[in-house]
Amino acid sequence: MSLLALLLSSLLFFSGFAAAGIYAPDCSLSWEWTFNTLGQNACTVAAFMMSTCSGGSFTINALPGPSYSYSGPSGSDDTDLCKCNTIAYSLLSACDACQGAEWISWAEYKYNCTTVLVPSEFPNPVPAGTSVPLWALIDVTVEGTWDPIEAAIVGDSPELGPGTIIG
Ligand SMILES: *[C@@H]1O[C@H](CO)[C@@H](O)[C@H](O)[C@H]1NC(C)=O
Repeated sequence: MSLLALLLSSLLFFSGFAAAGIYAPDCSLSWEWTFNTLGQNACTVAAFMMSTCSGGSFTINALPGPSYSYSGPSGSDDTDLCKCNTIAYSLLSACDACQGAEWISWAEYKYNCTTVLVPSEFPNPVPAGTSVPLWALIDVTVEGTWDPIEAAIVGDSPELGPGTIIG
């Protein structure tokens, strides 16, 4: 292969990668117990899971500050089953928490969802590149909110790896 062809193919490889981008903010290491064994924080796992309803890409922007929280669907994403489920809510709540912020209740989060999945179910298999901590499967409808104490007790293991159908 000529050098030019090699350069072009690596360029295509990287632009292909960027198109299927997963972007998520950093987390405080004091929340490291919420990370999976790949070292991914809850924001990153949330972005991977939500990407399965949006062509393999997803971006979660960092909160502007600790007085902000992620909200639930509001408008075009009201029908997004990757968001309208307790697993996405739990992961996003942990993503709030690890940025030093509060998280909203399950009722508030799902308020605009046209359909909500049965607790602890997800519409698509776990995608390649991530693994879901066990604590994300807790049925948050019991307490009505994500509970970090309960999540810490349940813990990470066994994680649900790529291809796993949750629910
Ligand atoms: C519901 O969606 C509207 C926009 O359609 C938004 O302004 C509102 O904040 C959402 N409500 C909740 C509770 O997320």
